[in-house]
Amino acid sequence: MHKIIAIDGPASSGKTSLAKKLSKKLHAPILFSGKLYRAIAFEMIKKNIKISQSKKILKIINELNEDKLNNKNLFNSEIDRISSNIAAKPFVRNSLLKFQRIFPKKNLKNSKYVIIEGRDIGTIVFPDADFKIFVWADISIRAQRRYKQILKSDKKSSFNKVFADIVKRDNKDLNRKVAPLKPAENSVLLDTTYLDIEQSFNALKKIIFYGSRDFKSKSIFRV
Ligand code: C5P
Repeated sequence: MHKIIAIDGPASSGKTSLAKKLSKKLHAPILFSGKLYRAIAFEMIKKNIKISQSKKILKIINELNEDKLNNKNLFNSEIDRISSNIAAKPFVRNSLLKFQRIFPKKNLKNSKYVIIEGRDIGTIVFPDADFKIFVWADISIRAQRRYKQILKSDKKSSFNKVFADIVKRDNKDLNRKVAPLKPAENSVLLDTTYLDIEQSFNALKKIIFYGSRDFKSKSIFRV
C-alpha cells in the first residue's frame, strides 16, 4: 500500500523546494496543489473572467489537465493575487478536491510514496495522510527568500512590495473561512527560519525515515 506525504505551509516557507527534493529521493510522484489555483487564475486572466463568474470558472476547472499545470507562466504577482482570491471560494475548493484525491491512484506507478504539497492537504484533502508536515518560517525570512527569487527575473522589484504581497497572501490564506492554512492536528511542524535548504531537508528526512511519530495521534510536534 502506498504512503501519502502531505506537506503544507505558507508562501516561501521552503515547502516546494523540500517537496521537490523529497520526490527525487523517493522517486515519488508529486502534486503541487497551488498550481491548480494558479492554472485557474491564468485562464481567468487569459479569458478576462471575473471572480463573480462562477459558471465560467467551473468550466475552467473541468478543463484542467497536466499540460495546464505544467505551464511555465503560472508564477507572477498577478497570479499570486488572483489564485489566493479564488482559493477562498468554497465551490472552487470543492471542485478541486476530486482532482487532488485521484492523483495518487493515477500517478503512483511503482512508487511507494506520493507527495502532495499545498495549504490544506493534511487538514482537508488527505486527512488520513501517513505523514503530515507543516513547514513554517518567519515572515521576514520568507519575504527575503521570495525577493531573492524574484530578483532573478525582475531586477527592479522592491523588497517592501514583496514583503507586503506576502503579508496580504498570508492574511488571505490564514483567515479565509474555508480550508484556512493551519497545521493539521497530527502534523509535525518544521520551522525553517534558521535553516538552509540542506538543513531543512535533513530535518524532513529524519521525520520521514526515522520519525517515531505516530501521525494518527492528535498532537503537533516540532522538530
Ligand atoms: O502554493 P502556491 O503559492 O503555488 O499557491 C498559490 C495560492 O493557491 C496560495 O496563495 C493559496 O491561496 C492557494 N492554495 C490553496 N490551497 C492549496 C494550495 C494553494 O488555497 N492546497
